[in-house]
Amino acid sequence: MEKHRVLFVCLGNICRSPLAEAAFRKAAEEAGLDIEVDSAGTANYHVGEPPDPRSIEEAQRHGIDISSYRGRQLSSDDFHRFDRILGMDRSNMANMSRVDPGDGNAKVSLLMDIVPGQEGREVADPWYGGEDNFRDTWDDVSMAAEALIAILRDDDG
Ligand code: 4NP
Repeated sequence: MEKHRVLFVCLGNICRSPLAEAAFRKAAEEAGLDIEVDSAGTANYHVGEPPDPRSIEEAQRHGIDISSYRGRQLSSDDFHRFDRILGMDRSNMANMSRVDPGDGNAKVSLLMDIVPGQEGREVADPWYGGEDNFRDTWDDVSMAAEALIAILRDDDG
């Protein structure tokens, strides 16, 4: 079985991408896939900080503790380290392209583009929202996690 290296990217790495990382980590564990997973932000605003308390609570509702996660900024090296890099919205995609060294082997895409029927949709930024918005984020990232498992299983043959 191939090892799959997946990176989830948002703006601050404290709301959406840590939840995507948590949902995928859990789904991959349950599926018995060999993975390396991480998340990063295109901005440096929250480097070294734990996830937003609302994201920590949302993950907790699904039995996952993300309080030890720490924010980090996307680097050009990530395009070599990871096989797949998934951005939450179009602004993330534009910011990512500015860091992309161009000679990496990562497949870069919008997260919801991998979910049948959800192509082109953005994972909305819940930062200015409330608890409901974090629930919506969870719904999106867990749907994408399941879709990604199916894709990686296919890759494994
Ligand atoms: P995230 O949300 O990109 O999902 O982590 C945000 C977190 C922080 C900020 C914006 C979005 N901020 O402007 O500090």
